[in-house]
Amino acid sequence: MKRTIELFKKYGLLRIIDKEVDIDLEIGHIAYIEVKKDNSKALLFTNVISKKLGKKFNMPVLMNTFCSFEATELLFGKKPDDIASFIDELLHLKPPKGFSKKIEMFAKLFELRKVFPKRENKRGVCQEFIKKDNEVNLYDLPILKTWSDDGGPFITMGQVYTVSLDGSKQNLGMYRLQVYDKNRLGMHWQIHKDGAHFFHEYKNAGKKMPVSIGIGGDPLYIWCGQAPMPNGMFELMLYGLIKEKNPRLVKSITNDIYIPNDVDIVIEGFVDPTKMEIEGPFGDHTGYYTLKEPYPVMDVTCITHKKNPIYQATVVGKPPLEDKYMGWATERIFLPLLKTTAPELIDYRMPENGVFHNLIIAKMKTMYPGHAKQFMHAFWGVGQMSFVKHAIFVDENAPSLSDYDKLSDYILNRISVKNILISEGICDALDHSSPGSCYGGKLGIDCTKDNVDFISKEILDDSKLFEKINNLDNNVSEIKQYKTNTKTPITILKVNKTKNVLKIYNNLKPIKKHTKLLVFIDKAKNDLENIYMLVWRIVNNIDAKRDIFLEEEFIGIDATTKNNIDNYTRQWPGDVECDKKIIKKLQNSNLINVDDEFLKKFYI
Ligand SMILES: Cc1cc2nc3c(=O)[nH]c(=O)nc-3n(C[C@H](O)[C@H](O)[C@H](O)COP(=O)(O)O)c2cc1C
Repeated sequence: MKRTIELFKKYGLLRIIDKEVDIDLEIGHIAYIEVKKDNSKALLFTNVISKKLGKKFNMPVLMNTFCSFEATELLFGKKPDDIASFIDELLHLKPPKGFSKKIEMFAKLFELRKVFPKRENKRGVCQEFIKKDNEVNLYDLPILKTWSDDGGPFITMGQVYTVSLDGSKQNLGMYRLQVYDKNRLGMHWQIHKDGAHFFHEYKNAGKKMPVSIGIGGDPLYIWCGQAPMPNGMFELMLYGLIKEKNPRLVKSITNDIYIPNDVDIVIEGFVDPTKMEIEGPFGDHTGYYTLKEPYPVMDVTCITHKKNPIYQATVVGKPPLEDKYMGWATERIFLPLLKTTAPELIDYRMPENGVFHNLIIAKMKTMYPGHAKQFMHAFWGVGQMSFVKHAIFVDENAPSLSDYDKLSDYILNRISVKNILISEGICDALDHSSPGSCYGGKLGIDCTKDNVDFISKEILDDSKLFEKINNLDNNVSEIKQYKTNTKTPITILKVNKTKNVLKIYNNLKPIKKHTKLLVFIDKAKNDLENIYMLVWRIVNNIDAKRDIFLEEEFIGIDATTKNNIDNYTRQWPGDVECDKKIIKKLQNSNLINVDDEFLKKFYI
């Protein structure tokens, strides 16, 4: 952490905040706003208190470590695309021809010895200070509460180290942890994750599961924790590959889990598989709260730390946030691995305002009929890619995947009911729009073919079209059209929902000659001019099987909040929002300096 801070200082990427700030909402809000800025910086809070606990902490808090593309590249020490090229080369190693090629390959393979973590038989730097049993007190750490409706304080950048029951596999996962009291944590490994798989092995064997949590050290540890490595592969091998040095591990004091020698803080303990407790709510990276659910509990047996540790944390919520930059590196580095199951894949993007798993746009070379649909099935069936809810495939002639304006024209000129596949499969545990937890609809759009007829539309201006719409159904309060120059003109409609949106869509069929794609959103908390946040809202709120209406090239998308009108029986979560009083206070004390326009732009 100290090296990271020096590095950031050198490159002007750090802001040090010496004013007194509270772990209760204040630090989270400051970091939340900072990382949304164009030129955002990492933040080091040196004067951290908790009014609620009546405490002043003697450790600083580092937020927004992955604050920008520049910072992310510095932390990796190289460009993510270069790491991807190296992985690609390794995956396609061919027998070398000629002596010099043999030497080259030997050198490459020799370098690979640095991938493997090394276990050291000594105390770690992370174990300079040790508190065991009754001395353990999680409230001695500046663990943040980031959102008003959160169930408590949460460790948000915890590296969770576990081993399989037979000891043959090690895992590092980034899972949040809720503080229940001074020595108990809620362990939020979701059902599909490796930590949860190991947990079931221990549960079946009736044994307590050892767990150690690292905080801090090289920021690449936490990045590796969120990387979607295949089951059974220890994420620290990826660390070794990227950093070209063996991760050095030491044994925890009170269990047998090995953790990196140089993390700042370690929390050790055991998860008793017979105990579950309510975890959450928590303002999550979807921009919505995840609601209360039972999760396993970790009993903490020991907390160790370095001399002068730094507590590292993040804040998640509505995009863009730190996970934008973490996710960008993941997207780039995992391209060659994805190509092993989808070889004709050229490139892909998972935009952060699609909350990663809610939207993927992929470019591919098509070789035969149905190729894009084959890829949809492949994606929906592979590891964490199978969480993807909405997938759009374009061919190699499409504009750059980064040029969203041109790309959306290209896609809209290829959208047709005949090119749409609606399927179902697993969903991320955080998904709130599917009718049941972790399972729901999937949408795939094959835009690799130019096979869409141009149906001339009589385009009206927004006010004229609204007049017509209002005469057909008065649930619609406002509209805005986009991309009327394409084969798929879009109309976004704000509704005051008093009935199922399908009924509104059916009433609006007479406007078919004016538009092709209707997207329904709630009247409240949406801005028709803000495309970035509209995309965020829309892809978050739809379950393809329930919410997409396809009829004769007149397509409806219901992206409204669902309730009993829609036979939705789960609880729909609220938006993650800053506390207005805290924002005012931080503005008054100059801890944040953004105007109302900025707050509006990001739905803060
Ligand atoms: C900021 C952030 C917070 C996350 N929080 C959680 C979490 O609380 N629970 C979870 O299961 N996954 C969470 N994830 C995703 C996992 O870290 C990711 O899926 C990882 O690949 C899991 O590793 P595993 O497959 O080894 O379990 C989070 C990711 C990020 C970037």
